[in-house]
Amino acid sequence: MPGTLASDYPSWKRLQQIYDNEHKNLVLKDLFAADPDRFSKFSKEYVASSKPENTFLLDYSKNLITEPILAELLSLIREAGLEQVRDQMFSGEHINTSEDRAVLHVALRNFGDFSISEKGVDEVAPVLKHIQEFTDAVRSGAWTGYTGKPISAIVNIGIGGSDLGPVMVTEALKPYAKRDLTPYFVSNIDGTHITETLRDLNPETTLFIIASKTFTTQETITNAESAREWFLAAAKDKAHVAKHFVALSTNEKAVTSFGIAKENMFGFWDWVGGRYSLWSAIGLSIALVIGFDNFQDLLKGAHDMDKHFRETPLEENLPVLLAAVGLWYNDFYGAQTHALLPYDQYLHKFADYFQQGDMESNGKFVTKAGQRVDYQTGPIIWGAAGTNGQHSFYQLLHQGTKLVPADFLAPATTHNPIRGSLHHRILLSNFFAQPEALAFGKTEEQVRKEVGANATEALIKSKVFEGNRPSNSIIFPLLTPSTLGSLIALYEHKIFTQGVVWGINSFDQMGVELGKILAKNILAQLNAPADVTGHDSSTTGLIHYYQKYRKE
Ligand code: F6P
Repeated sequence: MPGTLASDYPSWKRLQQIYDNEHKNLVLKDLFAADPDRFSKFSKEYVASSKPENTFLLDYSKNLITEPILAELLSLIREAGLEQVRDQMFSGEHINTSEDRAVLHVALRNFGDFSISEKGVDEVAPVLKHIQEFTDAVRSGAWTGYTGKPISAIVNIGIGGSDLGPVMVTEALKPYAKRDLTPYFVSNIDGTHITETLRDLNPETTLFIIASKTFTTQETITNAESAREWFLAAAKDKAHVAKHFVALSTNEKAVTSFGIAKENMFGFWDWVGGRYSLWSAIGLSIALVIGFDNFQDLLKGAHDMDKHFRETPLEENLPVLLAAVGLWYNDFYGAQTHALLPYDQYLHKFADYFQQGDMESNGKFVTKAGQRVDYQTGPIIWGAAGTNGQHSFYQLLHQGTKLVPADFLAPATTHNPIRGSLHHRILLSNFFAQPEALAFGKTEEQVRKEVGANATEALIKSKVFEGNRPSNSIIFPLLTPSTLGSLIALYEHKIFTQGVVWGINSFDQMGVELGKILAKNILAQLNAPADVTGHDSSTTGLIHYYQKYRKE
């Protein structure tokens, strides 16, 4: 509700009381011992409505919750008006209030189930058609470069939401990729990124996709200009740009003044947030790599999750349940971070992707009504693919002093069943073992038995695992385009739900602006020490040091 802080809700106050009175007694070992049905009570199987083989199991039983606590968390979500705000989103109301925009990534993957009226929604299908035609032409070799050769490399130039989604999904769905069409991604303004990317590429067979919602992002435009320079150094004639540069944007004017023809632009609309844009034209590189049919399956998978989120009671609603347990740790246990730990090498960019998805959405201290919150909002998202993390940061997860709630994700079947799936069985044994070890630990008594009578007290203590560290586990049959679509949408709606409870606007990103403005100002002062004015002594000192040593 506008004008209300989440901490004012009666359910929040009750949760605080429950936490104060009960949290010391919430011990996973005891909770499991007391209830043989705990797993069946706190796990749910998701089955996509349009594709039953798109299914996964969410096990949230290893959380520090009981049925009454979960019920209270759901009351909080209800009290915050989730159902109303969710319906407002789906009907195209301008819930992005600071920018006066609708939030309609769900319209990009709407296969006829939702009726949404907002300017641009009727253009979704024609743009998809354009994507399909272009994708087919490039993949079949009908689209050729300026010397008549087919395209073999695509370079997506974009940053943030115009980069991370395509990077994550093309990695995740590599088994579906056309292997003779290699995707590259250039995002960083650091000249090293584009230089190293272009080093081995041939301008005759390279297609550049300039991906920028605004088409004003400094990094992307500078990289795009450098790519055009590199291309023209070989192709010479500006007319050849049309065969090698396409744009994904909402800004037709800027695209055409860059020199990209209108027919080579794939449009989208202001109601698509950058971090929710992989479903739009921004997904062109995905469609090129995995083919249009697979891209459509990705969209359908997300749409199925949208329907689940929209139509399922909160008690059974998977994004809502993930949001509920996350709120418990974030706002009552004081957990600062949340780890995403996929046991699937193909998902190695999943945590990077949701760093933007979650932190740019919910890293905010002011509510929609302009009040400073007096509670924690979005967690720090981080993670890495298993089992690599086990050999680096898991020590802290198991025995550190911080509470780190984590989500473990894994496919039951691998796309690479080498040596009779030996690798995969080992991988999955770790996927099962880690949440078990985190939850149940190892007691001092167990350690004593293991180490024998000669062990020192210090050694014994160092081998104790206190346990009681919560996690969710998500297991699915195989990482397919539709399963991935559902999983991404699952997290999107979790983030949405938490944002609604905290009363913040999950769809603007004002926090990225100040640094951009300061950098622009500094760029104009970099040439001479005398130009460096208006800064604190630290910033001035740093710039002067740079000016002393820079060579170029
Ligand atoms: O970092 C701010 C941001 O606006 C992101 O939200 C967005 O995904 C990214 O920059 C790129 O923006 P654009 O697609 O307009 O280049």
